[in-house]
Amino acid sequence: MAHPLADVWTLRDRARAYNERFAQWPASHLVVVREQGQEVIYGRWVLGQNYQAPTKFYGAYPPGFLDRVLALFPDVAAADTLHVFSGSLHAGEYVRCDLVQPAELPCSVYDLPALAGRTFALVLADPPYSKADAEKYTTPAIDRAKALAAIGAVTDLGGHLAWLDTCWPMHSKRTWRTVGRVAITRSTNHRTRDLTVFQRVV
Ligand SMILES: C[S@@+](CC[C@H](N)C(=O)[O-])C[C@H]1O[C@@H](n2cnc3c(N)ncnc32)[C@H](O)[C@@H]1O
Repeated sequence: MAHPLADVWTLRDRARAYNERFAQWPASHLVVVREQGQEVIYGRWVLGQNYQAPTKFYGAYPPGFLDRVLALFPDVAAADTLHVFSGSLHAGEYVRCDLVQPAELPCSVYDLPALAGRTFALVLADPPYSKADAEKYTTPAIDRAKALAAIGAVTDLGGHLAWLDTCWPMHSKRTWRTVGRVAITRSTNHRTRDLTVFQRVV
């Protein structure tokens, strides 16, 4: 049976889907506020330490992070999802893109428009945050504006990008509207990050 929210997914529906999925953690619940006249999802997630971390990969997603992001998009099939900067993510029904690590698209993010051959309803991205971080992967620092332009070209119109970073990345407001901001705290002595959710509008 189709999900009751299957037809039109508003930001309120997405926040509610998250809040229902993680009903046991009310402090992590999302709200929808108005920012410069437009609705935006707001929240803060404190993820905590995972002493049985499945990977020792430098910069791997914090524990539980992906489950939380995906709870916002129960309408998107894994097969319509692209993980850019996929790092240690294991193979799945989704598509991965990474310049160095094993991936279905073993290329730079900038090459996606030429190589992906399709668009995706949801893109998740976890870039190196700084030149020093990039050096750990033996890659050049990321040009965020160029990366967001390339990702825009492989995202469905109306589709979403969930970008984890230490800053709100530079982007074209013609292509992307910011529809979500979630502060991410892992545990003590980890950098605080922001999950920015964008929607492709043009
Ligand atoms: C922060 S890590 C991502 C880790 C991932 N979230 C995980 O859970 O393992 C950044 C990744 O970006 C990849 N990378 C760096 N520059 C890239 C580029 N221009 N295009 C695609 N991937 C790149 C690196 O190889 C590295 O695996």
